[in-house]
Amino acid sequence: MLDINKIRNDFPILSRKINGKPLIYFDNAATTQKPISVINSLTDFYTTYNSNVHRGVHTLSMQSTDLFEEARNRVAKFINSQRSESIIWTRNTTEGINLVANAWGKKNITPGDEIVVTAMEHHSNLVPWQILAETNKAKLVIIPINDDGTLNLNNIDTIINSKTKIVSVVHMSNSLGTINPIHELCEKAHKVGAKFLLDGAQSAPHMPINVKDYDCDFLVFSGHKMLGPTGIGVLYVKPDILENMEPFLTGGEMVLEVSYEKASWNELPMKFEAGTPNIADAIALGEAIIYLEKIGMEQIREHEIELTNYALNKFEKLNNLTLFGPLDSSIRGGIFSFHSEYIHPHDLGTFLDNEGIAIRTGHHCTMPLIRSLNIPATSRASFYIYNTKDEIDYFIQSLQNAIKYFTHDK
Ligand code: ALA
Repeated sequence: MLDINKIRNDFPILSRKINGKPLIYFDNAATTQKPISVINSLTDFYTTYNSNVHRGVHTLSMQSTDLFEEARNRVAKFINSQRSESIIWTRNTTEGINLVANAWGKKNITPGDEIVVTAMEHHSNLVPWQILAETNKAKLVIIPINDDGTLNLNNIDTIINSKTKIVSVVHMSNSLGTINPIHELCEKAHKVGAKFLLDGAQSAPHMPINVKDYDCDFLVFSGHKMLGPTGIGVLYVKPDILENMEPFLTGGEMVLEVSYEKASWNELPMKFEAGTPNIADAIALGEAIIYLEKIGMEQIREHEIELTNYALNKFEKLNNLTLFGPLDSSIRGGIFSFHSEYIHPHDLGTFLDNEGIAIRTGHHCTMPLIRSLNIPATSRASFYIYNTKDEIDYFIQSLQNAIKYFTHDK
């Protein structure tokens, strides 16, 4: 059991009042709040050793380089990567997928090849593949979903076939909360000689991630959804694949030798990190990982299962409302998308904000998925380590009040 009160004390923002009510922050799938250790790490960087990395022999630069690389090592350990050279700093998940689509995809996808994604992908794991498919004359194939928000794998052996070159799948859906069967899909991809990319944006913050166990070729995630700052993300690539990938962005830092005519590439991982990186935020992400590891990723997942079961039970009793995603917490994260035909999500979002509750409303960057549900948008509540059952109670009560208000007791 997590000591939630102790955890909550580490997050200054959680003592804020919104519209005179205590803040209930249920927009964690969009971004999480930051503990004081992460905030202090940023202040510490800029007040005591602000300097560039890999470029100076002076004390400050050596200090920032050491801490920057220490954070990389920490990320490697966090996802059980054998080598820290496999960890590329990016801005976020989106940049990681764009890097793979450009640096790996442009070279390896040829006309007639197939790229497989699912019907529940975030735009960041859809649009880069659409563009690559169009540019390289390949075909984008979509794994459909069932009514309960799980993947429909009935025809999976037809969908993933000898033409498939990459399967790119979200681990935990940001719209439905579904946790997808990663081992099975990765195995199927490898069986036909395809690569497997795992979008861990919503899973890396909430459960243990093990690239060795999954055997994925690429993994992407964002720092800001796991207590870290915005503007820093991670791309993991298996070493043998990374060594054969062309650079994505070019310029300073990623080169070894440059003449007026040509250039050669720096060693890994610098070959993929052109320009001055996001130093302070990478170091602060390392601090966020220290915080998460102190709690324990298994415990974090357990807390989420407990909140998920609690909320599922409450949602079941609500009328005039449809909840999306699987009803089984073993294949669902703490993400609750729902819709009532009587309330536009934006009206509900405003109603709840008046109660101090922050949720997200809209299509959650999964427009094709939301369209397929035949609704304009959903309302989404998403939980994290500092959320409590009391908060869920208050949220459900407020939701009931909203339904009553908007339906006029229809
Ligand atoms: N991808 C983020 C979300 O789901 C922004 O809200």
